[in-house]
Amino acid sequence: MTAQDHALTFPQGFLWGAATSAHQVEGNNVNSNWWVRENAAQPDVRDRSGDAADSFHRYEEDIALLASLGLTSYRFSIEWSRIEPAPGHFSLAMREHYARMIGSCARHGLTPVVTLHHFTNPIWFSQLGGWEAPDAASHFERYVAFVAPILQDVPWVCTINEPNLLAGAPDDPATGAALASLEAPSPRATANLISAHEAARRVLHSDTSAQTGWSIAAQAYHAASGAEEEMLAYRYPREDLFLEAARSDDFVGVQAYLRTFIGKQGPLPVAEDAETTQMGWEYFPQALGIAVRHAHAITGRPLLVTENGMATADDNRRIDYTFEALTALHEAMASGADVRGYLHWSALDNYEWGSNLPTFGLIAVDPETFARQAKPSAHWLGQVARTGQLQRPLSVSTV
Ligand code: BGC
Repeated sequence: MTAQDHALTFPQGFLWGAATSAHQVEGNNVNSNWWVRENAAQPDVRDRSGDAADSFHRYEEDIALLASLGLTSYRFSIEWSRIEPAPGHFSLAMREHYARMIGSCARHGLTPVVTLHHFTNPIWFSQLGGWEAPDAASHFERYVAFVAPILQDVPWVCTINEPNLLAGAPDDPATGAALASLEAPSPRATANLISAHEAARRVLHSDTSAQTGWSIAAQAYHAASGAEEEMLAYRYPREDLFLEAARSDDFVGVQAYLRTFIGKQGPLPVAEDAETTQMGWEYFPQALGIAVRHAHAITGRPLLVTENGMATADDNRRIDYTFEALTALHEAMASGADVRGYLHWSALDNYEWGSNLPTFGLIAVDPETFARQAKPSAHWLGQVARTGQLQRPLSVSTV
């Protein structure tokens, strides 16, 4: 019997949840830069978001289903382009919509983790230059001040999702958003994102009692033989700098899926014999442990796993992946990282930024009827949540 054959126990009160983002599940986000991109005359994307999972209307059903599975938390985002469709014109009705979502979480016993910006910008903000615009931070601050009143009872607020990927993805005013990427981050966008985050934190600390942080995309960077310095130089502006900017935050969101090898000339392709996911990413669940240790080493702050999961049509493999990721997380916690919760990506099969093919969801969604169907992985994670105990699933090899 190996150590992993014993159940691993997670702390009392640990948050067990699942995550989505507005544009990926709501549908018809017609005022966002991604909508422009998807509907451009010659779209460079495979699928449009369209109705997505229609969660704009079905959020109550999503929340009730997550709660019935045994999960205790739901991470979702507020769509800036719905709240402020034109500069300075704020929608009270849309704000009320998100207030109802927060209320629904409370009614169903789920702790809401609310993200204020998850990749999409209002079209007007994009046309001003997006995160490159000189007054980007003050526009974001004004939006945050408008939504703050509905965040009074929200314990966790994530200001900006993966700013470290956004900084390498400038808006193109003609064709909408670029895909968030590991391209060299723009120093101006980086500085503006950090200012926007700090401004949002100030507003939230003064107007709410929410714990505030941002969620960083971690790549679990590995140096190829002899390329240690190149790896550190590559990682710093794409990850560490954004973690350093979180040192005064209440928590840091960690998002991890894969590892990336850096050679002398930059990132290396995934090894040919590696198992890959529907994203073409290497199957490497240990990435979560590495990412959490790294975020802990740099920030020393409490951490929340705000995303982790696998795009696969094989739901048993999703269970394997999640089990191995949670095992690595448990080890990182035992070595000193203060982790407060685990939010799986994703609650639903959703719009994966240009394609409906990758399925990350614990819950399947029928694209025509929008009917939800919890997968075995959803029941499995719900059981972990109910018991606080992680047991090896039958499908994971013990060799
Ligand atoms: C993003 C999600 C995305 C997921 C899988 C994260 O980078 O925050 O929006 O769907 O990864 O690609």
